Amino acid sequence: MRKLAAGNWKMNGTAATLAEIEALNARYDAAPVDILICPPATLLSRAADSAGTAIAIGGQDCHPAHSGAHTGDIASDMLKDAGATYVILGHSERRTDHNETDATVRVKTVAALNTGLIPIVCVGETEAERDADQTLDVIRTQLGGSLPDGLDGGDFVVAYEPVWAIGTGRVPTHDQITEVHDLMRAELTARFGDSATETRLLYGGSVKPGNAAEIFALSNVDGALVGGASLKADDFAGIIDALAGA
Ligand code: PGA
Repeated sequence: MRKLAAGNWKMNGTAATLAEIEALNARYDAAPVDILICPPATLLSRAADSAGTAIAIGGQDCHPAHSGAHTGDIASDMLKDAGATYVILGHSERRTDHNETDATVRVKTVAALNTGLIPIVCVGETEAERDADQTLDVIRTQLGGSLPDGLDGGDFVVAYEPVWAIGTGRVPTHDQITEVHDLMRAELTARFGDSATETRLLYGGSVKPGNAAEIFALSNVDGALVGGASLKADDFAGIIDALAGA
């Protein structure tokens, strides 16, 4: 499978920030791994223009409906129209800020797939859940509830992002990452059969150029979903290069 370095700009970036995508485009002519930037929706079409062929563009959320009276929301079809090929769904910030449940994420995943976008479905435990030894149950439940039935493993991506590791500089131990990624592969295989070997499993949460290589060396880690370090081309390139060398 092609590994994936995905950048999530969150609510950061204006026209000036597109220079970071241009720098990545100039640097990766023939990309060694799949490279994705998910800018805020206001920048999508300009980001797609800046990205060239080596870099894919994605949304950070979509509405489950394809159009209609939903003020402020964005349909998967609109993301595609603006040049997106991926969409992040169920990020913990959406689950918290917008009360998104697994059922919400599941209907959005269906919409994205019907539009022809590749969904990146996010799961992850809170610090309280980890402390209470509930991590594996939480991941099992979120993964089960956020994905619709009948998928082919190659059609979607899963990101494991422990909530307590996002934007904090704290990273789980290697054993903790491996335990969850191995569990996710087993759960997906039980549900979707052998095609689950094709599902890219990303780790996310404080991935930096300095810790990327050791994370990418772990079993069942097929890339990263990167927040802060994706905002600067040089930092993100350090992560891309680590992934290419893994
Ligand atoms: P971070 O964010 O890399 O800034 O920790 C990761 C994410 O939320 O996707």
